[in-house]
Amino acid sequence: MAKILVSGGTGYIGSHTVVELLEEGMEVVIVDDLSNSERKVLDGITSITGIEPHFEEVDLKDRKATYGVFEKYPDINAIIHFAAFKAVGESVQKPLVYYENNLLSLIHMLEAMKHFNIDNMVFSSSCTVYGEPDVLPVSENAPLKKANSPYGNTKQICEDILQDTINSTEGLGVISLRYFNPIGAHPTASIGELPIGVPNNLVPFITQTAAGLRESLSVFGDDYNTPDGSAIRDYINVVDLAKAHVKAIRRLLDQKQLSAFEVFNLGTGRGLSVFEIIHAFEKSTGQKLNYKIVDRREGDIEKVYADTSYANDELGWKAEKGIEETLQSAWKWEMNIQSKH
Ligand code: UD1
Repeated sequence: MAKILVSGGTGYIGSHTVVELLEEGMEVVIVDDLSNSERKVLDGITSITGIEPHFEEVDLKDRKATYGVFEKYPDINAIIHFAAFKAVGESVQKPLVYYENNLLSLIHMLEAMKHFNIDNMVFSSSCTVYGEPDVLPVSENAPLKKANSPYGNTKQICEDILQDTINSTEGLGVISLRYFNPIGAHPTASIGELPIGVPNNLVPFITQTAAGLRESLSVFGDDYNTPDGSAIRDYINVVDLAKAHVKAIRRLLDQKQLSAFEVFNLGTGRGLSVFEIIHAFEKSTGQKLNYKIVDRREGDIEKVYADTSYANDELGWKAEKGIEETLQSAWKWEMNIQSKH
C-alpha cells in the first residue's frame, strides 16, 4: 500500500485530498503546523472515511523537525506538498513572512527527500503564475508573467526551485498542479473551507453573507471588458481538484511521466463571471444575496480560465461537478459551520 506524506493536509485542499487518497486505499501521514487550519479537521476526515490518518504537528521551516517526520515514517513513497500561505493581500503586507514560509518549507522538503531517498512529489501551484494571459483559454505552455504579488512570486520561485533540483537529481519526479479557483466543500459537509476572519475569496464571502454574518457582498468592478462587466474566473470543485492529486500520485508511482517535471492546469475550462456566480448561487440554494458594486480590487485580473486538454488527455482527469452542485455544497458547509456556533 502506498504511503503518502501530505504537508498542509488539514488545510482546505489538503483535507479534501487526504479523503480521496484514503478512499483509494492509500496510507496518509499529514504534516501541518495548524497555522491556518484546525485539528478538528482530522475528525471530519475520519467521519467521512472511517480511517484516522497519521498526524504530525510540525512546522516545515524547522529542518530538524521535518527530518524527524521522515525518521518516524521511513517508508514514505511520495509527497504532496500543499503547506504554504496563500492570501494575496497579506503577502503584499508581509512579503518576508511569505518568502520565508513558502520557500523554506519546500527547500526542507526537497532536502529531506534527497536524504531519505524519496523520488516523487506533487506540488500545489496556481494559475496566478500566468498573470493576465494573452490567450484564453490558457494552456500550460503560456509564458509566465511577472507575478503581481509576493504570494504569486513564491509559486513561480518554487516551480524554479523544483526544476533546478530535478536537473541535479537523478530519478526525482515532480508534478506541479496549477489550480484555478477551487470552491465548494465535500458533499457530506464534514470538511470544507474555514476562512479565518473576513474572507478574501468570493465564495466564502457569498456564503457568509447569505448566512447573515456579512451585510452584503462587494462586487469588485462591473466595468471589465466582459459580457456583464464583472471579472471572469474558472471555478473548480474542490473534490474534483482533490481527485486530480490521486491521479498525479498514481502517475508518479507508475512512472508514467513523459518528463521529470510536469505541469498540469486544473480547472473546468469554463469561465464564469462574478454575477454568474451570484445568480447560480441564488438559483441553486434559494437564498437571496445582498450585493453592491464597488471599485475594482487592486491587482485583480480581468479574465482567466484553463485549457484543460493536457490534464484531460495525459493525466486522465476531468472536472465533473457542475457549478450549481458545487455552490450547494459550499452553502451546506456554511450552514453546518453556523449550526455549531
Ligand atoms: C486569487 C489568486 C489565486 C490564489 C487565490 C487564493 C490571482 C489571479 N488569483 O484568486 O492565485 O490562489 O487568490 O486566495 O491572483 N470578488 C468579489 N468580491 C469579493 C471577493 C472576490 O467581487 O468579496 C471577485 C474578485 O474580484 C475576482 C473573483 O471574485 O474577480 C474571485 O476572487 P477570489 O475568490 O478572491 O480569487 P482570485 O482573486 O481569482
